[in-house]
Amino acid sequence: MELGRATQDRHHAWRTPVLATTAEDGLPQARTVVLREADANTAHLRFYTDGRSAKVSQLSDRPDAVLVFWSKRLNWQLRVRVSVTALTTGPLVESVWARVRQSAAAGDYLSHLAPGTALSAATPTEVRSIAAQPTEPRRHHVGVLDAQVQEMDWLELARGGHRRARLSADTWEWLTP
Ligand SMILES: Cc1cc2nc3c(=O)[nH]c(=O)nc-3n(C[C@H](O)[C@H](O)[C@H](O)COP(=O)(O)O)c2cc1C
Repeated sequence: MELGRATQDRHHAWRTPVLATTAEDGLPQARTVVLREADANTAHLRFYTDGRSAKVSQLSDRPDAVLVFWSKRLNWQLRVRVSVTALTTGPLVESVWARVRQSAAAGDYLSHLAPGTALSAATPTEVRSIAAQPTEPRRHHVGVLDAQVQEMDWLELARGGHRRARLSADTWEWLTP
């Protein structure tokens, strides 16, 4: 499965899809995320994030979301309708942190400030403590987005003719591109 390959291959274009959600004001929001895990058997995709980020509260309110993948090499677009469970505590989150904390990305999950906080909102104490890189253990803010795939819309662009198909758990059909 191509999505599985994208989790292994850092250069795979499908490693960085766009995740679209609905914000609290009812308007759409979208951002790039890294595909970390793909399980073809259970039709689950996983992403790591900061548990305090806007997308986590958006998905907790409205779990329906869309992922858009595009690969220039394959000339494939994949639009995936998902239902997302946003986890900020529990064994899965801790097991992800156990892996992430060994990596260069660990610092991303240890910031005192939530993503999107205006930098002018940081108090002088917070700014000093960020600059001083304190050595005491800090609380991590890892969040896991666990996406259950509902339906996929696959589009292939080709000189000889485009192809498009709709796929769900046990059905698929060709569509007019
Ligand atoms: C290439 C790329 C990869 C990214 N990967 C992630 C990711 O895996 N998780 C994440 O939370 N944010 C990731 N980001 C940052 C998000 O796009 C976004 O800016 C941030 O998560 C805040 O989004 P939000 O305010 O909608 O929650 C990535 C950005 C880029 C450009």
